[in-house]
Amino acid sequence: MSTHPLALGRTTFGDAANKDNLLTPEEAHALLNEWVPNERLRMHMKQVGAVMRAWALVREGADERTALKWELAGLLHDADWEKHPDAHCRVIIEKLEELKIDPEVIHAIASHGPKYFGVEPETKMDKMIYVFDELSGFIHAAALIRPMRYEGMDVKGILKKLKTPSFAAQVSRDDINDALSRVDVSLEEIIQFIIDHQRDVR
Ligand SMILES: [Fe+2]
Repeated sequence: MSTHPLALGRTTFGDAANKDNLLTPEEAHALLNEWVPNERLRMHMKQVGAVMRAWALVREGADERTALKWELAGLLHDADWEKHPDAHCRVIIEKLEELKIDPEVIHAIASHGPKYFGVEPETKMDKMIYVFDELSGFIHAAALIRPMRYEGMDVKGILKKLKTPSFAAQVSRDDINDALSRVDVSLEEIIQFIIDHQRDVR
């Protein structure tokens, strides 16, 4: 694999001794408010956080503590993107390591773009954040151009937009397909889940 400028150059993160050391949702939101002035980008992370949390609870049968890990990975995965675009992922990872956060959360963040960061998704949490990231943003972009936003939005309309290269052209269809190929869930199911669980995020 050729090296991307954002490649992290390592595949292990955090310290196993910090297992189960998490931020509270309030602490994570405070970090977001400080690191991400852009409201739209903050919204993206809140939406991915909400979808990750819901998936853990509804589809993985996770307990509250585990669901919080999934939520934190979603909430913080792009936290350094606005202020450190040239070192995206590395800066937030170092911050979370300094805060002694659970290595599973850090690994999920490090693997949310294998092509860029050079870290393969391993756990289900890793794989699902990779699946949700681009699709969540894509669906929100679709909602923003609809007068009724999420009201009446259906899977079919999203599928059609995905096949329209000019719509949200910056969203990589290749990344979406690559992410989907790693999980045993259909695209239709993922789209419906995202619509249902990010529509009310404020
Ligand atoms: Fe993202």
